[in-house]
Formats: sequence, structure tokens, C-alpha cells
Amino acid sequence: MNVVKQGEPLPGPKNFFGLKNIREMGRKGLLEAMHGFWQTYGDLFEVQVGPRKLVVVVHPDHVRHVTMTQAANYEKLESYDTVRKYIIGNGIVTSIGDLWKRQRRLMAPFYTPKGIQAFADIMLRDTVEMIDRWDQLVTSQPKIEMFDEMALVTASIILKAIFSTESEKDILEIKDCVETMVSFSNGTQTNPFRLPDWVPTPYNRSYWKARGLVHSYINGILDERLNMDESAYPDDLLSKLITAEDPETGERMSRDLLLDESLTNFFAGYETSARTMSYVWYALATNPDVKARLHEELDRELGDEPPTLDELKRLPYTLQIIKEVLRLYSPAPVYAKDVVDDDILDGYRIEKGSTVMLFPYFTHRHPDFWDEPLRFDPDRHTPEATKARHSQAFHPFGAGQRICMGNHFSLLETHIILAILGKRFDPELLPDYEANFVMAGMLHISNGLPMMLKHR
Ligand code: HEM
Repeated sequence: MNVVKQGEPLPGPKNFFGLKNIREMGRKGLLEAMHGFWQTYGDLFEVQVGPRKLVVVVHPDHVRHVTMTQAANYEKLESYDTVRKYIIGNGIVTSIGDLWKRQRRLMAPFYTPKGIQAFADIMLRDTVEMIDRWDQLVTSQPKIEMFDEMALVTASIILKAIFSTESEKDILEIKDCVETMVSFSNGTQTNPFRLPDWVPTPYNRSYWKARGLVHSYINGILDERLNMDESAYPDDLLSKLITAEDPETGERMSRDLLLDESLTNFFAGYETSARTMSYVWYALATNPDVKARLHEELDRELGDEPPTLDELKRLPYTLQIIKEVLRLYSPAPVYAKDVVDDDILDGYRIEKGSTVMLFPYFTHRHPDFWDEPLRFDPDRHTPEATKARHSQAFHPFGAGQRICMGNHFSLLETHIILAILGKRFDPELLPDYEANFVMAGMLHISNGLPMMLKHR
């Protein structure tokens, strides 16, 4: 018997070709529209959008089904074609099957809690440089755009970690180019009236120019590195990627793959952390009691010198603040998988070819798993509270075999940034400012995050 017939049809807003759904999303934005559907149809529902069927997953049991117990049936197929084509090719975020398995096996050791200690010095050094920058800005130009500030430091950290890049000019140029590529790639999915890529419109040209610059930058570094004696390689991620060998075949990565993986690691590793850190400052400015406890912990545990890794362990509340930001303001509010074969999930049928959208943003606001979900409370992330909770109730980094490979990296990086800058600075929101969170690829604040920088 065909397994599809056994399940119930999924609930959801039914209308011709999903036209009303498209209108609703256009009018309200994806997050608000999906939130409305969630309130109406519950934790598992289907939304048709033109020819595509989106299955929205919110409940932690369903997250576990899709990412863990039945992970082989939920792959990164056509939903990732745009980002494959326009940004990262076949790097580890988008690769599948044997290639993904091999690349994950090769690269995972660089990102374990022990592996990332190799990058701690860069994180510390770059954050300390931010102290000088902010000391000057406090007097010369205290009104800052917080996302830009945080993007500066996280882009610098990841570019140094991958390529040992020291030039500030290169860092700014690559960061800007990747931002152009990401916004173009997002735009291709949301603008039905755009002209084909090869038409030399200013919009298309800016993309191709940015892509050309990024590729030639990485190719230049690759040429230089591959012509060097291996014993002279700097200790960075690129050297690790070049010399990593498949334990079964002894093979190394091809040059094309080295380019895709370098780009992927930069692409995956800087905007997410920059958004997390920006929302940390927002959360502190809107929760004075939390800020007071942060200051109390930092003053008690740290002297004037930047913390060592051991000292960071004495700052648990600082880390809990970051996790609470990842809960309430998940920088990646949704991630997707494509359904390989018909399946039954909690009695409902999931059709081959549909796209599952897993929404940490809603799981993290689910009243069955979070008491007063909208309250910002870092104590939700003590070891005891974490242990007592459903393990997929918190999935800002995804879950299962494809869980974010950089999760320890980003937690260490944001822990260091908050400890060092939080000890000295206390950025404030502008009077009457209200953040408008929207989804634009990642979680954005549509009106930006202008803040007044001041010393504590
Ligand atoms: C707060 C910061 C971050 C968040 C919220 C985040 C979130 C995510 C999410 C939701 C996924 C997709 C999971 C899936 O498809 O099942 C992912 C994948 C990934 N992330 Fe992150 N990420 C962050 C930072 C980083 C950093 C700093 C790096 C690298 C240094 C990184 C590297 C990756 C990689 C390589 C993957 C693909 C893993 C795979 O498919 O095997 N991420 N991340």
C-alpha cells in the first residue's frame, strides 16, 4: 500500500495556487504571516506558495524527526540552488551525500571546543582593538550603527582565522562584497520582476563585480599558499583545509572545493555572529536588571586585562545572556530541508518534493516549552534548566548531523566580545527607538540599530 495514503492531510491555509498566502506574506512579511498561521493551524502545517509546498515545523518532537531520526529523508536539494549558484557553490553548507560526509569528517575537528582554541587569540586581539576604536568614537562620534560595528569585528576575526588576513582594507572590501552577494542572492528569491543575471543592469553588475573581487582575492591567496613550502604555512584554517587528507583515500580537496569551502566558512561565520552580538546590546539596553547582573559578574571576575580562556569559564551568566539572545532573536530564524520521499510525521503525510521549514524562532516561543516565552531571562540557560528541557526546544544552530559546525566558534567569539566590551562600554538606545524585527534571509532589524556609545 502506498504509505502516503495512510497519513492525514496537513492543515494550513488552503487557497488557489497559494495566491492569498503570497499576498499575506507580502503584506505582513514572512515572520508575521507564518506566526499568524502557527496560531491558527498549530505546530505542523502546510502553506502553498505558487507551485511550492512549504511544511512548517515548530514542535521539538518534529524537529527531532526531521533532523535526527529521519534525517536521511530531509536533504538540502533545490531549496539551496540559489545560494549554491550565487554564493558558495558546493561548500559544506550546501553539499549533500558522500561529498558532504567527507567534508564534514575532514573539517569537524577544526571546530571542536578544543580545535577552536587555536582561534581564541585572534578573537581576543580583535576585540581589544575594538576597545581603542570605541574609546575614540565615544568622544568623536558616539552615535553608531551597532550591526556595522559588530560586523567589523566578526568579519575581521573570521578572515584572520581562515586566511591570516591582516589588512584592514582587504577585510572591509571582502565584507562589503560578500554582503552584496548575499543581498543579491536573497533578492533573486523575492523579486519576480528582475531581469536575467546576464543583463548588465546596475544591480546585476554590482553582484558580478563583488563576486569577481571575492574570487580573485581568494584565488590570489590560494596561489600564494600552494606555491609555498608546506612547512612555511601559517597556522590558519586555509592551511588546515589544504593539508586535510581523507583517512580512507588519502585524497586532498580540489582547488575548486578549497575556494567553495573558504567562501562558505566566511559566509556562514560572520553575519550570524554579528547579528547575535548586535541583538545582545539591544537586549541589554532593554533589560536593565540583566545588564546589572552582567556588570556585577564582569567586575567580580575580571581585572583590566582581557580574560584568559580559563577566566571565561567563570563568566557563566555572560554566556547565558548570549544563549537567551539566540532563543528570542535567533539570527537564523528558519532553516530548510527538502523532502526526498513521502513520509508520515505525527500522523500527517509529508509529500515528496515539498520543503520543510524548521522555525527555531517559533519553537523558542512555544508556551509548552518556555514559561512566559517573550520574557528575556538568561536563567533559562543554567545547566539544570537546560537539562530539564526537551533537547530540541532550543535549536538556534539546527540539530542532528547537520547542526552548525561553527556553534562552539561563535559562542566563544561572542562570549569574548561581550566580556571585554561589556566590561567597559554601555551602549544606549536612542530615545523613542523601537526595533522592528523582520526576516530578510536572516533576522534583521528593518530600521537598523543606531545606539549611543558611552563608557560605563
Ligand atoms: C550565532 C551564530 C550562528 C548561528 C545562529 C548559526 C546557525 C546555523 C544554522 C541554523 C545552520 C543550518 C543547520 C541545518 O541546515 O540543519 C548552520 C550551519 C552551518 N554553520 Fe552556522 N551558525 C552560526 C555561526 C557559525 C559560524 C561562526 C560558523 C563558522 C565559523 C558557522 C558554520 C556553519 C557551517 C559550516 C554550517 C553547515 C554545517 C553542515 O551542513 O554540515 N556557523 N548554522
